Amino acid sequence: MKTLKIVGLAAVVLGIITAFTLQSCSAEKVAAYKNKSGAQLWGETCIRCHSTPSPASFNDTDWSSIELHMKVRANLTKEQSDKIFEFLKSAN
Ligand code: HEC
Repeated sequence: MKTLKIVGLAAVVLGIITAFTLQSCSAEKVAAYKNKSGAQLWGETCIRCHSTPSPASFNDTDWSSIELHMKVRANLTKEQSDKIFEFLKSAN
C-alpha cells in the first residue's frame, strides 16, 4: 500500500512539473512570434518548404489568394498570416 501511494504521489508531482514546463514553453513561443515583423516571419516561415517568393513577384490580388493557400499549408495563425501578407503587399 505504501509503495502504491508513493508511486501515485510521484506521478502527480511529475504531472505538475510537466504541465508547468509545457505551459512556459508555449508562452515563450507565442511571445517570440508576437514581437516579430511580417518581414521576419516571411523570411523564417515561407522558406521551410520553398525559396521565399519575393514581394514583387505578385500583385495584391494574387497575394490574397496565395495567402488562403499558404496559410493552411504553413499552419499560420491569423495574426501571423496578416503580418506576413500585409508586408508582402506593402513591398510589391
Ligand atoms: C508546408 C509547406 C509550405 C509552407 C510553409 C509555405 N508554402 Fe508556399 N507552397 C507550398 C507548396 C507545396 C506549393 C506548390 C503547390 C501549391 O500551390 O499548393 C507552394 C506554392 C507557393 C507559391 C506559388 C504559387 C504560384 O502560383 O506560383 C507561392 C507564391 C507561395 N507558395 C508562397 C508562400 C508564402 C508567402 C509562404 C509563407 C507564408 C509559404 N508559401 C509557405 C508549400 C508551402
